[in-house]
Amino acid sequence: MENNQKKIYRAVRYDKFGGTDVLYIKEEILNAPKAGEVKINVRAASINPGESAIREGKMEKMFPSAFPSGQGSDFAGVVAEAGEGVKDFKPGDEVIGFSNDRNSQADTVIVSRDQLTFKPHSVPWEQAGSLFVVGGTAYAAVRSVTLKKGDILVLSAAAGGVGSVIVQLAKQIGVRVIGLAGKANHDWLKAQGAIPVEHGEGAEQGIIAALDGKKADALIDCFGSGYVELGIKLGIEPDRINTVIDFEAAKRFGTKTEGLSSASTAGVLTELAKMMAAGKLEIPVARTYPLTEVKAAYNELEKRHTHGKIVLIP
Ligand SMILES: NC(=O)c1ccc[n+]([C@@H]2O[C@H](COP(=O)([O-])OP(=O)(O)OC[C@H]3O[C@@H](n4cnc5c(N)ncnc54)[C@H](OP(=O)(O)O)[C@@H]3O)[C@@H](O)[C@H]2O)c1
Repeated sequence: MENNQKKIYRAVRYDKFGGTDVLYIKEEILNAPKAGEVKINVRAASINPGESAIREGKMEKMFPSAFPSGQGSDFAGVVAEAGEGVKDFKPGDEVIGFSNDRNSQADTVIVSRDQLTFKPHSVPWEQAGSLFVVGGTAYAAVRSVTLKKGDILVLSAAAGGVGSVIVQLAKQIGVRVIGLAGKANHDWLKAQGAIPVEHGEGAEQGIIAALDGKKADALIDCFGSGYVELGIKLGIEPDRINTVIDFEAAKRFGTKTEGLSSASTAGVLTELAKMMAAGKLEIPVARTYPLTEVKAAYNELEKRHTHGKIVLIP
């Protein structure tokens, strides 16, 4: 089997739960796409914190694993082959997509045609390959707190992968965002029209000062560690608080937990891709790594200070 016939492909794998040291690149034989499926040569596949948690065995109840396991939902690439019955995608088409099988961190992936949309030509590969997880999660979170023009939204991890999309979706609605972020990301938030507040000690006082006597209408938590409780303390109604990470606090305070699962469709992906083509949404790319440097990429992500996305390039 020669690589140039694309019968062998390289993919990220691990055989047991653990830290980034369990990750390796494996060569495997690639099947042809079945009816309704499309084979894509991956050009970019971003990485997400949830994948670390799954690999560490912390989410086994919610997302059970079988070994060897792969990683990744996000990707963008070029169609290599369309299975029987697929009429809308053909070889050479540039697409953005998602895998439901944790295997997009590879040089080739096969998915159902329902998990793809066309990549607008103006959207860079790295951004396109970062869109699905953070875009869908941000879309669901913003929808859940029913934002309207003039609202004030408090947002934790505002310059991270999910947060940086929420900031831009909220801006489109005309919402004022008070965004928690490290100092290094304050200029980016200001450029988006948001009010930056430094996280950590003094965050609560910083938010109160930014509110300047007004009342916060909604809070979206992308970090955990007390932000849901802070929202309650600020007098925000529980049904206008959404967390994508602190499910225990959500249960305790009766808040929402809308995330990717309620927006993981090609329809949402298409809507977000159109916003990118129209210049209304941009995914900040912190850094790219070759696929073979997947361990280093996750080591950086797991420091929890990424601005936007880290992307693997096969
Ligand atoms: N439920 C779902 O469907 C779903 C889907 C996707 C992600 N998630 C979860 O959502 C969370 C965010 O994901 P992500 O991809 O945006 O992560 P990320 O890109 O790694 O962002 C991490 C962010 O956390 C910020 N941060 C660090 N310490 C903080 C603190 N004390 N208070 C507030 N912010 C702090 C960092 O800000 P600075 O760099 O500015 O310090 C950084 O921007 C993760 O926990 C992830 O697992 C859930």
